[in-house]
Amino acid sequence: MSSGIRFDSVTVSYGGNVVLDSLDLTVGPGEVMALLGPSGSGKTTALRAVAGFVTPAAGRVFIGDRDVTGLPPHRRGIGMVVQQYALFPHLRVDENVAFGLRAQKAPKPEIPARVADALEMVGMAGYAKRYPRELSGGQQQRVAIARALAIRPGVLLLDEPLSALDAQLRSGMLAELARLHRELPDVSILYVTHDQVEALTLADRIAVMDRARLRDVGTPQELYRRPRTEFTASFVGNANLLPVSVGEGQVSLGAAEVKVATDGVAAGVTATLCVRPHLMGLGPGPNALTGSVTEVQWRGATHRLYVDVGGHAVKADVRELREPPALGAEVTLHFAPEDAVLLSAGVNGDG
Ligand SMILES: Nc1ncnc2c1ncn2[C@@H]1O[C@H](COP(=O)(O)OP(=O)(O)OP(=O)(O)O)[C@@H](O)[C@H]1O
Ligand SMILES: [Mg+2]
Repeated sequence: MSSGIRFDSVTVSYGGNVVLDSLDLTVGPGEVMALLGPSGSGKTTALRAVAGFVTPAAGRVFIGDRDVTGLPPHRRGIGMVVQQYALFPHLRVDENVAFGLRAQKAPKPEIPARVADALEMVGMAGYAKRYPRELSGGQQQRVAIARALAIRPGVLLLDEPLSALDAQLRSGMLAELARLHRELPDVSILYVTHDQVEALTLADRIAVMDRARLRDVGTPQELYRRPRTEFTASFVGNANLLPVSVGEGQVSLGAAEVKVATDGVAAGVTATLCVRPHLMGLGPGPNALTGSVTEVQWRGATHRLYVDVGGHAVKADVRELREPPALGAEVTLHFAPEDAVLLSAGVNGDG
């Protein structure tokens, strides 16, 4: 079943407090859309509006061509996985997985085979008769995913499905979700996460939310390489955001002139220069910035240097550094013009 999701100016409020403000967003058939944003920005609310657990104050929700705004949750053809309390503790694994099928009134004789299929898909075929308390956290989350998949949903809603798991388990599950998506290429997935790595790894596109509003949407590469706002630049990946002034054909960072494309940024304004820390080179080069080292952190594959350049803390992630500079040492950092993005203050998304 291939469907897709469309939010058409969806607004949700609680007691007069708008927590989702006219959301317009389309998730294509088979697309994975990550919803990324700070706590309280409205991500779960958006998911609940699709699932039917919250009624919009205004706007419509479509699944495929169907307006589902007024439909009860079990008639929307949706699978949903939440962060915790996902399984019914008093039901065995197979009964948990069968739950949605029963609610959906699937033909009784079909249920055991569909439960077995779903458990097989998540690698939990051998655990059908266990209770949730007899499973690890990762196994419980797999069963929750099997339960969501058993109804063969056109749309899968995942609300921070991995956040309760430890880092190692999380990266294993991330690979499994990617595999599941390859096996179910028609299922549209809306995936809420705080975790940039999850969003960058799984998503075809990322929607960035802040304070009830959609701030940005684009492919992971677009948002990472060419962010349009400071908010996106700092939320998707790590960023140096440095205040610069833009003149006729030149950009200055304090006393230093920097070379960077100025397309779309008017002369005479202050703007923000965005350079990713790993794109900062150590030593002389184009767009050289000189300052003193205030902190050095060893991070395994890289050293993170903090350098005070004219009162601004500039971060550089440097690889293959045998001898890190001493604290207080004067160093030069540089970056290629094409690795920097100029953000004008007007597109801060802070309206
Ligand atoms: N049932 C409710 N009644 C009143 N306010 C609510 C209710 N559910 C959510 N809110 C409020 O709506 C806002 C958005 O909540 P939501 O759960 O969508 O955020 P979120 O982006 O999922 O955050 P998190 O990352 O912490 O899960 C919050 O300010 C929250 O307090
Ligand atoms: Mg949430």
